Amino acid sequence: MQYMPNVINVIEAKRDGRDLSFSQIRDVVDGYTSGEIPDYQMSAFLMAVCLRGMSDDETIFLTRAMLETGETLDLSQIPGLKLDKHSTGGVGDKVSLALVPIVAAAGIPIAKMSGRGLGNTGGTLDKLESISGFRVELTAEQIIQQIKSVGGCLCGQTEKIVPADKKMYALRDVTGTVESISLIAASIMSKKLAGGADIILLDIKVGRGAFMKNIDDARKLAFVMRTIAAAFGKTVICELTNMDIPLGRAVGNLIEVWEVAKLLRGPQQYSYGFPIDERLYHLIVDLSNAALSLAGSSHTAVTLLEDGSAWQKFGEIVEAQGGDVNSIERWGYISPIAVVGSPNDGYVTDIDAEAIGRLALTLGAGRTTKDGPIDHLAGLWINAPIGSVVQKGTPLVTLYGRPSPTGRELNKEAKAFFTIGDEKPLPPSSIIEIIPDEIRC
Ligand code: URA
Repeated sequence: MQYMPNVINVIEAKRDGRDLSFSQIRDVVDGYTSGEIPDYQMSAFLMAVCLRGMSDDETIFLTRAMLETGETLDLSQIPGLKLDKHSTGGVGDKVSLALVPIVAAAGIPIAKMSGRGLGNTGGTLDKLESISGFRVELTAEQIIQQIKSVGGCLCGQTEKIVPADKKMYALRDVTGTVESISLIAASIMSKKLAGGADIILLDIKVGRGAFMKNIDDARKLAFVMRTIAAAFGKTVICELTNMDIPLGRAVGNLIEVWEVAKLLRGPQQYSYGFPIDERLYHLIVDLSNAALSLAGSSHTAVTLLEDGSAWQKFGEIVEAQGGDVNSIERWGYISPIAVVGSPNDGYVTDIDAEAIGRLALTLGAGRTTKDGPIDHLAGLWINAPIGSVVQKGTPLVTLYGRPSPTGRELNKEAKAFFTIGDEKPLPPSSIIEIIPDEIRC
């Protein structure tokens, strides 16, 4: 291994709280991506950034350096404004699965590149792969071709998109350096900028089940990401949304796709008595409307849901990527391993998103290591969302997946994730109301 003397100076400068130049940051990022800088030096650099922070200029430099390690998708051959969306990740977050077909159904081109789940939060790619035959790996040419033919795609990042982030993220994950606003902002924005869209919709999750546990940090992250977008001539919309409680009723892979499919199918499903989760519905409608209005569309999400065009577009996207939309219905034939009953009478006043995420992981719905196995049929269904009136024994949550630990042990554990109280709680909102106007930029 050949040492780069300059790297030590850069680490020391950051350790002492000094600002770094673009060339200093680029040397570190390039050196690490090419393998010239070893993990231990990069770890020291990342830790220095975590402890000392970065100015807005440095964060922009870092984003640029990371972006330039790979290729940028050239969407210029597709006419009109192109849209992308990113969520910082949460439990039961299936919004992208609905938003992409809604936006595409309005004729707005959308290329959504997603990631896999790690830890408590699920990944859109794992959910999509629970649809039989669905291919998430597309080349840049296939992405462009599909946007031209169908209007949208849901896929993974190509190998050539921000290779620096793949290495840096894996290292951050094991060195206690994930929770830095500058590092998170540069990681997300470098990938979004490489995706080539003109407008980027950012859903920043706040709460127990999210990276950002409090509103102040979420706001800071939103401002930094907006500043980066402006430096690259892009428009972003940032919404801070609630991740204290799980989003929707389903947590898992196929079960989440199934919940979205019911929602996209529109009003005839509701009249069959299928319980549409209002928080999920409102978040999908709100974020989709924000995207549509920014792209200059006169369509509204509700119309596109109600006239069936969003559902039709979902089917077209699934088919274009080799999937069988009918396979989603096999969810209805899966047997649960346990139904968890309420310990007493009252109202469901709270459901802990983080604990529910861990439970889904225990059932096999998520990964504990980067390349570990995943059970597409594992997951859970929340029978009694917040505000439900329950009696002792009323089902709170139904569990699907591996029966180890036993259904009985899980049953006991899961009861503790629900709070049953005497007073009816106020309905929880999905969008955090206190977002100042200027953060929606
Ligand atoms: N999501 C990312 O893509 N990167 C981070 O650093 C955190 C969340």
